[in-house]
Amino acid sequence: MPKMGSAGSVWTGVFEPRVRIAVVAKEIIENGRSISGTVELLGDKSISHRYAILAALAEGRSKISHYSAAVDCQSTLECIMRLGIDVERNGDSEIVINGSGLNGLRASRRSLDAGNSGTTMRLLAGVLAGQHFDSILTGDSSLKRRPMRRVIEPLEHMGAQIRARDANFAPLEIKGTELHPIQYTLPVASAQVKSAVLLAGLFAEGETSVEEPICTRDHTEVALQEFGADVRRVGNTVTVIGQPRLEARQAVIPGDLSSAVFFLAAALILPDSKLVVHNVGLNPTRSAVLDVLSSWGALIDIVTLRGESGELIGDVSVRYAELSGGTVSGELTAQLIDELPMLAALGPYTQQGVEIRDASELRVKESDRIAVLAENLRRMGASVEERPDGLCIQGRSAGRLRGAEIDSHGDHRIAMAFAIAALGAEGRSVIRESECVAISYPDFFATLTAIVRRSS
Ligand code: S3P
Repeated sequence: MPKMGSAGSVWTGVFEPRVRIAVVAKEIIENGRSISGTVELLGDKSISHRYAILAALAEGRSKISHYSAAVDCQSTLECIMRLGIDVERNGDSEIVINGSGLNGLRASRRSLDAGNSGTTMRLLAGVLAGQHFDSILTGDSSLKRRPMRRVIEPLEHMGAQIRARDANFAPLEIKGTELHPIQYTLPVASAQVKSAVLLAGLFAEGETSVEEPICTRDHTEVALQEFGADVRRVGNTVTVIGQPRLEARQAVIPGDLSSAVFFLAAALILPDSKLVVHNVGLNPTRSAVLDVLSSWGALIDIVTLRGESGELIGDVSVRYAELSGGTVSGELTAQLIDELPMLAALGPYTQQGVEIRDASELRVKESDRIAVLAENLRRMGASVEERPDGLCIQGRSAGRLRGAEIDSHGDHRIAMAFAIAALGAEGRSVIRESECVAISYPDFFATLTAIVRRSS
């Protein structure tokens, strides 16, 4: 295998630096007749980030199968490589990470670029705060607009020294220092903030605890346990013991349920559809969207179920059924935060419409998703009320959607949600900046094309 060098890091094998999204593309979506077939998902984005980071901090070679091809997850790999970690790629989706132990990272001579990925930036902020060297974490124009105060504040309580633009925005200049443990109550339900504190807790001597208002995705806790850390949950409080010896693992990443939802939704828009999605991650802290869709009348079955690396994986089948629609509010919004764009875009296909409340977090995602959903739903002729913390979208009685030019604002979940909504609309739609789907699902349009049946 050739050895290749890059500033501050060396990697082996055939690892390709992540695909930079340089082109601005448009995707044309014609309406479809039905959905049928099977989908093999990419590995889960959230879990892939965590495995890459923990494998870097573990001792020995971790083999991670089905690592996500999402550009966001390549950003995490690039960052850990710049921190001196060897990464090998075997074929399409297997990576081998040669961890250097908890205290083995090395300073990067260049800024660490998290690209579009909030998870990369927030989780790495936790790791880098406790190093014996300084780092700069930066990102693309969208990420530089997203709030980082939420991680800076608890990390400062631990002794971290972080400078940010307006004390809130990237680039983050992190001066590595000795951290001490804290008990922290999260003001916002955020798995990224919880994870940043827990990861920082690895470098502090003693017990670091995070209490969350509601139980957010627990992939960090599951992965920490897999790598041998002592981590416990009592009620809504998660505690990690600092200075563990993390051991390399072999793991298989489950498919990404948040991506599966777009294909499931397509089958719920087009009559006579039947689809099976294989190897879907079904961690209960992620699967609320399936309960919501089922409660709206969707015919969704979990056909097989098994455990893998502490996570649940199953095959999920869906058959077309008319959806009632309904309200998503309170704790539920945090549990299906990434699925809200698709649920909103399903609104015009439901009987009573869809109302989303208590979701102001949507305004600080890759785009202001409340505003962008309202804008594009209106372009398609839907009747929408935009509120500070959500949306109210009229159902079928407001009329059929019509094809439109959709402005994704470079937000992958917006592009995918409207590509699906467009399948049932009258006339063709154009998705602007459609290349952004690569942030979480590079093959999205090819997969969609393979399962859509069109009228001949
Ligand atoms: C994620 C947590 C969520 C989610 C994001 C991925 C994670 O963000 O929206 O896409 O991997 O921990 P918040 O922690 O901001 O809620």
